[in-house]
Amino acid sequence: MDPRPAAKPQYDLYLNGAWVPSATGETFETLNPATEQVISRVAAAGERDVDAAVKAARAAFDAGKWTQLSASDRGKALLRIAEGIRKNLDELAFLETIDAGKTIGETKNIEVPLAAELFEYYAGWATKITGETIPVRGNYLAYTLREPIGVCAAIVPWNFPLLMAVWKIAPALAAGNVMIVKPSEFTPLSLLKLAEIVHEAGLPPGVFQVLPGFGPSAGAALVRHPGVDKIAFTGSTATGQTVMREAAATLKRVSLELGGKSPNIVLEDADPEAAARGAIAGIFYNKGEVCAAGSRLFVPEKLHDAVMEKVVERAKKLVPGDPLDPKTRFGAIASKPQLEKVLGYIQTGKAEGAKCVTGGERAKVGDGKGYFVQPTVFDGATNQMRIAREEIFGPVLTAITYKDLDEVIALANDSPYGLAAAVFTRDVKKAHVVARRLKAGTVWVNTYNIYDPALPFGGVKQSGFGRELGSAAIDNYTELKSVCVDLNL
Ligand code: NAI
Ligand code: MG
Repeated sequence: MDPRPAAKPQYDLYLNGAWVPSATGETFETLNPATEQVISRVAAAGERDVDAAVKAARAAFDAGKWTQLSASDRGKALLRIAEGIRKNLDELAFLETIDAGKTIGETKNIEVPLAAELFEYYAGWATKITGETIPVRGNYLAYTLREPIGVCAAIVPWNFPLLMAVWKIAPALAAGNVMIVKPSEFTPLSLLKLAEIVHEAGLPPGVFQVLPGFGPSAGAALVRHPGVDKIAFTGSTATGQTVMREAAATLKRVSLELGGKSPNIVLEDADPEAAARGAIAGIFYNKGEVCAAGSRLFVPEKLHDAVMEKVVERAKKLVPGDPLDPKTRFGAIASKPQLEKVLGYIQTGKAEGAKCVTGGERAKVGDGKGYFVQPTVFDGATNQMRIAREEIFGPVLTAITYKDLDEVIALANDSPYGLAAAVFTRDVKKAHVVARRLKAGTVWVNTYNIYDPALPFGGVKQSGFGRELGSAAIDNYTELKSVCVDLNL
């Protein structure tokens, strides 16, 4: 009587409204990082599949069955997708948990519901995308049209496999674009399930396609293909640079959501308890595999002991465990390469002379299989250490002590990245002053990791450009056309 959902042993590409194997027959295995067991075998898209998908997308776009559908009918289709996500909540959460090592509490209560909410939010936008009339010199009627860009491709990572894609799919479709998604090779399952849901929602073939596969083959083929008009990428800064370089050949529109080394600043007047809670939420949500993770914690000398004691106490309570157990608060690192990277950085931190005050080791869960790491906190670090400069993308917090406000703002901004930041203070004035001085796409005050479909998100500096979510994402997926009409009789 166990109603627990299951993954299929084998998945194909979702191309032009049908499930097909890849042209070469190539496949790959996706693993459960909590057990190291193979979950499913998945078709790996290559250049020929990408070409077929782009042709199908172009045909769908040009036929106008989606683009020229009334905006209200497009909105209704997005609502049907949202409904499908809610109906399949258990299966989507299960697939996301076994494929990416996320806790079932996070996938079921937060991330999958948020994916549905995103489709609902952008369903509302479909009917509200408008141009303007512009007062120009002379006897002319001048106005702007906001038109879809055309064939968009999303290349997404493994840390939020479903959500990072939906951030792109929902606004792109609302604006009348067609979309091809390439999931990460580590976590293709939730997006393949989404393809089933979209299929059932009745979108015309070619409007939405999912091509699992590897970055250098499927990903690179999408970036190079002259038939793709826009690439929306989330992932590492290094790959983002490659995408931008390759996209230049065809001058594709590009938006990049890249890495971060976000500062979490505790001011002297902060409540140490609230600051510690924020530090923990900032770094340990989703095992630290969050682009906006608050991986640098700046603590004032005066509050150092009070804050760090509480941080360590709370970190110790986050015990890694079976992600499918609803009681587990801390899951498995998403893949073996990522596990090795995180453990490597922990060694680096120790060698650089930072003090590891909790964690610092691989964690043993159950029979010892699975890529688990203890929540780790380094104290007494400097902003010059590699663990303060490079994105670790794991459960490793680097705490740095500072003396005064100007110093901490300079240190916080001394990073190649600028995705997010947070400040903890009881002083309203200081909160806003610091928010203005931080070079980041998002600043949280007395909280961390708050996201909303309506609130734009994106980076400055090497964290990328372009804004997702909110009305900003509509700009990201539309072109502005100016029309000028002679009214001289
Ligand atoms: P990645 O940036 O290489 O992968 C992200 C996506 O890009 C995947 O779908 C991948 O298949 C694709 N890709 C890879 N090479 C490509 C290419 N040449 N052309 C087109 N697409 C390509 O990230 P990866 O290797 O999975 O993780 C490495 C590191 O990147 C992590 O340790 C972490 O530090 C960082 N990262 C940051 C993320 C963020 O949200 N900021 C997300 C994922 C990883
Ligand atoms: Mg996996």
